[in-house]
Amino acid sequence: MTYSKSISGLLLFLALGEVTKIQAAYSSLLFTEDFFPLINSRIDPIVNPGKVSGHVHHVVGGSAFSASMDYASARQSKCTSSNLNCDLSNYWTPQLYYKWRNGSYTAVTGDGMTNYWKYPLTNVDETTPFASIPDDFRMLAGDIKRDDYDPNKAVSWLCVDAQYSYDYTDYIPMDRECLTLRPQLHFPECWNGVDSYKEDNSHVAYPIDANPEGGVCPDGFKKIPHLFMESTYHIKTENIGEGYEWYPGCFVLANGDNNGFSFHGDWLNGFPTNFLVEAFDQCYDKGVGEFIKDCPYITQFRGDIGRDCVTEGDVIDELIGQHFPIPALPGNNPEYNSSIYSDNYPKGSIPGYTEQASIVKASDATGGFCVTGVCTDYVGGDVVAQDAAAAATTAGTGTGTGNSTAGMSSSVAEVPDATASGPTTADSATAGTATGISFSDSATATTSDLGLDATMSILPISSIEPVDASESLPTLGAVETSAAPASTTSHRWGGSRWSNRSGKRRL
Ligand SMILES: *[C@@H]1O[C@H](CO)[C@@H](O)[C@H](O)[C@H]1NC(C)=O
Ligand SMILES: *[C@@H]1O[C@H](CO)[C@@H](O)[C@H](O)[C@H]1NC(C)=O
Ligand SMILES: *[C@@H]1O[C@H](CO)[C@@H](O)[C@H](O)[C@H]1NC(C)=O
Ligand SMILES: *[C@@H]1O[C@H](CO)[C@@H](O)[C@H](O)[C@H]1NC(C)=O
Repeated sequence: MTYSKSISGLLLFLALGEVTKIQAAYSSLLFTEDFFPLINSRIDPIVNPGKVSGHVHHVVGGSAFSASMDYASARQSKCTSSNLNCDLSNYWTPQLYYKWRNGSYTAVTGDGMTNYWKYPLTNVDETTPFASIPDDFRMLAGDIKRDDYDPNKAVSWLCVDAQYSYDYTDYIPMDRECLTLRPQLHFPECWNGVDSYKEDNSHVAYPIDANPEGGVCPDGFKKIPHLFMESTYHIKTENIGEGYEWYPGCFVLANGDNNGFSFHGDWLNGFPTNFLVEAFDQCYDKGVGEFIKDCPYITQFRGDIGRDCVTEGDVIDELIGQHFPIPALPGNNPEYNSSIYSDNYPKGSIPGYTEQASIVKASDATGGFCVTGVCTDYVGGDVVAQDAAAAATTAGTGTGTGNSTAGMSSSVAEVPDATASGPTTADSATAGTATGISFSDSATATTSDLGLDATMSILPISSIEPVDASESLPTLGAVETSAAPASTTSHRWGGSRWSNRSGKRRL
């Protein structure tokens, strides 16, 4: 049994313009959203409200994103990095890092995210309505403590290799270089009907039948709209740095996990009250059993993707390796392997680590956020931008031993004035001209390009104007569509990967 599929079939398929077939496959998908990155920073208003959080997050959505925030403040956002302009939510996942052979780390420039809002109709009594979540609803997906294969199958890693084959694993692939690496997440689709949030996330649950798509909720839980989220990284020199070369184990999540089981995500709701349920009611054609194409309830909010939406909230005053390598992952995060069967498990901590970073207002910072998909390191206050050499010499070799992270931020703060004020134009220009944003021609990627109708935008944006084959990612649509002709309807969202898991399989 092979788990790989060729993309060439998809490209042909798209070239033929058989869009309708893709739409037909989507009886459970109501709408999608594409996001540019908003900020990459150690902020997490759900898990660490008001504090510097434990690891760097890749954040998209409403501009009000802050260490302390709630629904009301989210709704005050002046803009969103989404192309659905009524969604002032924030969504975040751990940032992906590349580890150089000498132990330094660079944040991989990411594409932002794509959200798929699904209303699972399979396996569920269609007469049971979706529950209305409260305004200040928040939840987590995946599990940062995961130490083995996930019975809920919430997390998967898509890898597109040099042969343009792709497959999915529960962990970061070790056996080959991926040109595209895409961690993707199913959020829980069952809610206890009472709590906006519980610290252990127990107000929500995954379906009981280990099917992340439209399964049956545990007793006492109600079904809610289902969020599937993709976070895409194009793995290439322009998005990492000169000298990039792949080797097994070169990728690591911001929390230190180099295996990937612990990938997770957060959603803090910022939709208009009851938007998600209303969207279902307005856009689901009960007679046909499908969602209405170009449903006006959705399209009235369709806008350009928020490429210039800048965060107005908080930034953490530290360098996080967006332009040049840093000696350690920000926070108390030495590398570890999230497999319980690994020699490098569990996660340790850096001895003597003391937090040196603090929360500052984005308005006081000259960096630390993303514009047009290009993210700049924080360069305000005492922390000055510096080149790689300065970072290396002031922070020592810092391969995760000793106090390297703390040492880094303090020593960086002491660097008199390496490259003067303002963002390091040279660095950001490099990143900017080739961010790996697949819609790099996004000056013209307007509403109509993206597809006014929600179903259209399930197409990879790059397929509108493909740059090269590696840019044409298999989206959710590609996976399902390419599997569909073989009448393998049970092989949804990941082909055979999810079709025969004994639970005994190990890495
Ligand atoms: C993590 O541990 C598993 C189990 O020992 C191993 O198969 C895998 O290669 C390890 N991953 C890394 C990045 O070292
Ligand atoms: C590690 O290697 C990278 C890439 O060559 C380089 O930019 C960085 O300065 C090096 N770091 C140290 C501490 O030598
Ligand atoms: C780490 O920091 C502590 C307290 O600042 C210090 O006593 C210790 O020597 C440092 N360790 C290393 C390896 O630098
Ligand atoms: C599932 O896996 C088991 C154990 O590896 C194997 O015996 C069985 O044939 C597989 N079933 C399918 C449908 O592939």
